[in-house]
Amino acid sequence: MDKLLIKGGVRLSGEISISGAKNAALPILAGTLLASEPVTISNVPHLKDVATTITLLQSMGVEVTFDDRLNVEADARNVPVRRAPYELVKTMRASILVLGPLLTRFGEADVSLPGGCAIGARPVNLHVQGLQAMGAKVTVENGFIKARTRRLKAAHIVFDTVTVTGTENLMMAAALADGETVLENAAREPEVIDLASFMIAMGAKISGAGTSTVRIEGVESLGGTSYEVLPDRIETGTYLVAAAMTGGRIRLKRAAPKDLEAVLIKLGEAGAEIKTGKDWVELDMHGKRPRAVSIKTLPYPGFPTDMQAQFCAMNSIADGVGTITETIFENRFQHVLELQRMGANIRIEGNVAVCTGVDKLTAAPVMATDLRASAGLVLAGLAAEGDTLVDRIYHVDRGYERIEEKLRQLGAEIRRVPR
Ligand code: UD1
Repeated sequence: MDKLLIKGGVRLSGEISISGAKNAALPILAGTLLASEPVTISNVPHLKDVATTITLLQSMGVEVTFDDRLNVEADARNVPVRRAPYELVKTMRASILVLGPLLTRFGEADVSLPGGCAIGARPVNLHVQGLQAMGAKVTVENGFIKARTRRLKAAHIVFDTVTVTGTENLMMAAALADGETVLENAAREPEVIDLASFMIAMGAKISGAGTSTVRIEGVESLGGTSYEVLPDRIETGTYLVAAAMTGGRIRLKRAAPKDLEAVLIKLGEAGAEIKTGKDWVELDMHGKRPRAVSIKTLPYPGFPTDMQAQFCAMNSIADGVGTITETIFENRFQHVLELQRMGANIRIEGNVAVCTGVDKLTAAPVMATDLRASAGLVLAGLAAEGDTLVDRIYHVDRGYERIEEKLRQLGAEIRRVPR
């Protein structure tokens, strides 16, 4: 298992390009199952989760190629196997995204239940209830969700909780259903809009994506298209925090700063000077130490839970006291225990972490526990005094494309060390 070795204390500076968004690429790849003709998707990031999704599609019989220029070609004209096995689902919960497309196009889908997850219970009950409301018969047998239907029927669905992949799954299911489905209290994330735009390009009839009411008029079939995945707002935010924590100045190209407002506002509060254009963002910390900020995670357009660990790392070396309130996932503070081992002064009270900034963190061997927690640890290592060794970085590789190369481009002293 690879580790990352980081020599902290370098002020980041320079320019890098942002990759395509993981959380848009995964549903779009699942969405290729809806198409009766080949599709091409560009700006697909080379990530572990993308590779897992491609393996999953291939295991069903979809013909998929992924080239070095970030293009995926998927031909789902024939999909003889309508099943997502446990071995793949257990490594990536987003595998649940094949449930809606398989069921609506072929009338059957067997998807292994995801099981426990390092960041809390993360159930899929709302996905299942939505499909049942559309007329599907759903049972759980031998650890699999088994869904069957003739043709799904349109339904009026009000989500109990805002769910991103739940909204995406039902949007895909409704695309080939009979009649107009309405999803209320839908997730408004930019990645939901990206999936809808991809589906519209294939011939789906969707309106309201990006608002809390999405309407989907079912069609008989969807065709081929070429589609480019939007930039990753979480990767963008992560590098911006890295620069802020090291007093640096960076410019990120091929980004979409309009999707990152809540994060940019908080970085401004922390003392960063931010400039944005349509597809770039610049952060200049002018060598200063960040001020502590308080955040509360919320569904989009609120502050993203996927940026919580990074801000926790920043607060741990900031000037003052900042509180972090996590409202989306229980048990998403594992990075705090590791940050404490680096000298951070953080107290957890229920779903609130109270961070009192210390003058400096000191390097220590630390362990990544989930994707975003591991990003927080890498950032802490960049700002710490000494050599930090981050173990279990397969978590990082699930969501960050070539993280050590990009950070080196910004001047960081970081390298991957094989075990
Ligand atoms: C997606 C993102 C993930 C992000 C999260 C929240 C992808 C592939 N992943 O995850 O990076 O951290 O959104 O922004 O896009 N819930 C239920 N029942 C359900 C579904 C969800 O109770 O059927 C609850 C969850 O336990 C959680 C909340 O709803 O408390 C939000 O979860 P959800 O938006 O579904 O997260 P994911 O879509 O899994």
